Amino acid sequence: MCGIIGIVGTRPVQERLIDSLKRLEYRGYDSAGVAGVVDGHVERRRAKGKIRALEEVLAGEPLKASVGIGHTRWATHGEPSTRNAHPHASGRVTLVHNGIIENYAELREALKKKGRSFESETDSEVIAQLLDEELKTKPPLEALKATLDQLTGAYAIAVLIDGCDELIMGARRGSPLVVGYGDGEMFLGSDALAVGPFTNRIAYLEEGDYVAIDHKQAQIFDEAGNPVERPVRTVAASAALVEKGNYRHFMEKEIHDQPDACQHTLSAYIDPTTGRVHAPGRLDFAQYDRVQIVACGTASYAGQIARYFFERLAGLPCEVEVASEFRYRQPAVTKGTLAVAVSQSGETADTLAALRWCKAQGLTTAAVVNVHESTMAREADLLWPTHAGPEIGVASTKAFTSQVAALTALAVAAAAARGRIDTDEEARFTRLLLESPRLIAEATQVEEEIRALAPELARARDVLYLGRGAMYPLALEGALKLKEISYIHAEGYAAGELKHGPIALIDEETPIIVIAPTDALFDKTISNMSEVAARGGKVILITDEAGARNAPDGARVIVGPTCDPLLAPLVYAPPIQLMAYYVAVQKGADVDQPRNLAKSVTVE
Ligand code: AGP
Repeated sequence: MCGIIGIVGTRPVQERLIDSLKRLEYRGYDSAGVAGVVDGHVERRRAKGKIRALEEVLAGEPLKASVGIGHTRWATHGEPSTRNAHPHASGRVTLVHNGIIENYAELREALKKKGRSFESETDSEVIAQLLDEELKTKPPLEALKATLDQLTGAYAIAVLIDGCDELIMGARRGSPLVVGYGDGEMFLGSDALAVGPFTNRIAYLEEGDYVAIDHKQAQIFDEAGNPVERPVRTVAASAALVEKGNYRHFMEKEIHDQPDACQHTLSAYIDPTTGRVHAPGRLDFAQYDRVQIVACGTASYAGQIARYFFERLAGLPCEVEVASEFRYRQPAVTKGTLAVAVSQSGETADTLAALRWCKAQGLTTAAVVNVHESTMAREADLLWPTHAGPEIGVASTKAFTSQVAALTALAVAAAAARGRIDTDEEARFTRLLLESPRLIAEATQVEEEIRALAPELARARDVLYLGRGAMYPLALEGALKLKEISYIHAEGYAAGELKHGPIALIDEETPIIVIAPTDALFDKTISNMSEVAARGGKVILITDEAGARNAPDGARVIVGPTCDPLLAPLVYAPPIQLMAYYVAVQKGADVDQPRNLAKSVTVE
């Protein structure tokens, strides 16, 4: 995924383009670039690496423009390099692109036959070249439409045309693009955060839309070329929400934001006066006989946790599958299946495709998403929001616990609707859930102990995470967090599976993190730990006070809050997140922008 900004301003835009790109850097940071109209011609500046490298280029050669576009790249076609950095230029066209043009090879060959040569290895340059070709015979908007008609794949673009000093054109299909309405200035951006510091009045372009903005207005057209209006909404992407405050990294801040994030999320589902849970959209769970959750990465682990509760509390069969497999498997879904997509960004390509597939099968679809204006939020039949606020760290933390909170509340709603619990039990569960923000805050108090362990963990080559029941997906999440930000190989296992193979990995060098607050399966997990300890494994047990009293000899114990098993995935998430965080800090890794990753993956 890449980030896009465009500004038709009345004053210099260089600083604002950079400010916006910094807000978008979580979407990709392989290279960055800007372009603007300088004395009637478009000039560009580009650099490999993060925005600060681009800032250095601009310090030597400022871009004195009041109309400009910018881009931060997550490489798909072509290595990260200055040559492959956006904006791409061809003749009169200078363009930034987010997405993948699937038929680019074929278009490139056709353009080469016309005598055109290519500067980069990207699919994006093909759009610039095609548009320049169309501009030979058509005015800008017609040329844009003719270009878009030839593209297969996903795109959000922003384009400058040499000779059209006060115009930026844009288009979207498969990748998001918003129009920002300022005071005598207009904006295009990948999301509300991109234009957040300049305006909070935003219109979301729909699939296939294209647009032309000048100082005063946006002319929007649908895919067929008909002029259309898209509602202008006031959004709350205030600049303050994307500041680090006193924290060193966004991830650290976001770990500590979790009590608030969960509280805000739960308040969208629970009425504290009645103790009832309601699924936004007034869905009647009694009408469904199965839940199918689709998601990727961390969001899929939130789904796996929810499965325990949908089945145990509500007796509702629940399957969870990573969207990249689900979408191509032609799963045998039944009419009574409720399809639930879980996604922080609401833009992940595989999850969106799986959601669309379910919709095409006639299933009711719901989207548990954090970005409420995202494509999934708009396309699903039901929006089940999380209220984590903008999550900037690439490693998901508060979005994860907010997803778990929302899904747990929904499982309670399903249990009530299906007559599996009465209103007293429902009220007991909601009272418990409403305690979770306090307990999550309490759980972060293990921070110092975990920080002290970090130097030792940072030396490990491999780390294993074990859990049972709902702690098993949390073990998977712990391993993913460590891998993605500290680059240490880690795996999560169901504790009972250990002796079926992975126990062969145990030696004195491999830390084993066991997540086991006291529950019905605690004794079994202790037996698994003893098996590990007997083979010289270094066990770090994360548990509660009662669990600590039963820890096997030699285990290092981290004591978290005592809580009901319903809350354990929420309450025991911060310790494993903090563990990954401090190991990454210890290793000097780039915590918020780990190598090779992007915040949300809007390409396959
Ligand atoms: C989490 O730390 C990851 N960076 C990643 O697994 C992420 O959860 C996944 O790509 C799904 O993203 P989404 O929630 O925006 O759909």
